[in-house]
Amino acid sequence: MVKPAYEQRKELEEILKKELMEEISPEAETVGSKEGSKVHSGSIEFDIKPEELESYLNKYVVGQEEAIEIIATKVCTHFNRMKIENAIPEDERLVGNIKSNMLLIGPTGVGKTYIVKLIAKRIGVPFVKADATKFSETGYVGGDVEDLVRDLVHEADGDIRKAEYGIIYLDEIDKIASSGTMYGPDVSRTGVQRNLLKLMEEAEVDLKTPHDLASQVEAAMEAQRTGRITRKKINTRNILFIVSGAFNGLQEIISKRLNMQKIGFEKAPASVTDKQNLLKKLSTEDLIRFGFESEFVGRLPVHIVLNELTVEGLYNILKNRYSTVVLGKKLDFRAYDIDLSFTDEALMMLAKQAYQEKTGARGLLSVFEKTLIKFEKTLPSTEIRQLIVDKNVVESPDRVLSEMLLNDSIKSFQKNYLIRHGIFLEFDEEALRMVQDLASKNRKSIKQLCEDLFHDYHHGIKLMGMDSFKITTEAVQNPSGYLENYIKMNYNKQSKGAS
Ligand SMILES: Nc1ncnc2c1ncn2[C@@H]1O[C@H](COP(=O)(O)OP(=O)(O)OP(=O)(O)O)[C@@H](O)[C@H]1O
Ligand SMILES: [Mg+2]
Repeated sequence: MVKPAYEQRKELEEILKKELMEEISPEAETVGSKEGSKVHSGSIEFDIKPEELESYLNKYVVGQEEAIEIIATKVCTHFNRMKIENAIPEDERLVGNIKSNMLLIGPTGVGKTYIVKLIAKRIGVPFVKADATKFSETGYVGGDVEDLVRDLVHEADGDIRKAEYGIIYLDEIDKIASSGTMYGPDVSRTGVQRNLLKLMEEAEVDLKTPHDLASQVEAAMEAQRTGRITRKKINTRNILFIVSGAFNGLQEIISKRLNMQKIGFEKAPASVTDKQNLLKKLSTEDLIRFGFESEFVGRLPVHIVLNELTVEGLYNILKNRYSTVVLGKKLDFRAYDIDLSFTDEALMMLAKQAYQEKTGARGLLSVFEKTLIKFEKTLPSTEIRQLIVDKNVVESPDRVLSEMLLNDSIKSFQKNYLIRHGIFLEFDEEALRMVQDLASKNRKSIKQLCEDLFHDYHHGIKLMGMDSFKITTEAVQNPSGYLENYIKMNYNKQSKGAS
């Protein structure tokens, strides 16, 4: 049974309030997280267990159960270990400990960024996201990788201790792999890797950049005042690094290695699952062959492969009650007080279309836009306050929209006519089409055209003592001739009946 509109609206608003307003804004650059675990003066209160984080992520993210299992576990272990390690005196701590920095591999739009943002939000640590491509070795052209650490401090509202427990997320990491030719941009890419790997293990980063004139002046003044140079530094030992990329061409490298180990020749993998399975056989040497320094790969011990999304997966994303795609679109229409809903069949068709785009869940957004953009533009200036997206809307949005607009205009004309003259003008199907064609030919609105065509009909109709009248194609073609004829025939009939 379909729920009444007010209930649907209430439910939607509840979800939106709860889920969207709580700053899950996947497209935003940084998500400042203020709740969850608490960090204060060098210690961390963290008590989330892997399964708790896993089920939280599975609530939002579709089709990545295996990846989530590993990510949730490693993230929780990282923060829980930090908690106990902080209780140990510095000189008794393990030397050369390797952090669980992670490498996420997966094509575009399958949830890499989404997962990391959800994690940062859930556990409430400062979080910074950037694309690896924006950095250069020297920091002169692009940014300096150390800026990431300084950004964490900014995210932590200046609290260095808190920043030291943050997460740095670097997307497009595959773009800083060298292609094997050691000149040009490759030298710089390798340089960025080197700079990063220092941070990924343990480094002290100055809070102020050496190029920053204002901070130099400030430091000089402070030195004058206190008689010594104090430097604020951030230690990166506890900062978790998550890097990700699509890694096009990595499958071929893995496949080559596997073939070399085997005798005989294996064909390149064709299907998505074959490719997926191949990626799961990833080893460190493949990443080195891809163009990473071995020291860099060495600081990324956890490899996670995300699945490509299938049609089924895309459909499930749409059906997910937290799906920002559907909720977002509903909100777009709600802004005009229009109630938007979808049939399951339509969602499945949209998922199929999105799959063709080969951009994962991002494809959903583009097919939603393509299908609904004209409705979004036109419906607000009509009286239509509900749109049910069904098979017809997905198949032929233009046709459905023009039908809706036609019905809306005719209804509004009929309503006016009834109020003004007490007469209901009924249109047959063909007459409606004709009105529509005529209106577009004459560049008139349907309402205006009808008003022009039938402006004096009420006299004749009233003369016949009728309170409703059917408009046919003949009436549209020749309004006054048709009505005159009708009246004559009516009169004849009456007089015959009378004689
Ligand atoms: N597996 C998924 N389950 C639910 N929603 C998803 C999933 N994957 C992506 N989305 C939705 O699509 C949006 C874009 O995905 P996301 O930013 O995570 O892509 P990505 O994997 O980081 O891709 P890229 O490589 O292009 O950065 C997300 O904000 C989310 O709304
Ligand atoms: Mg991303």
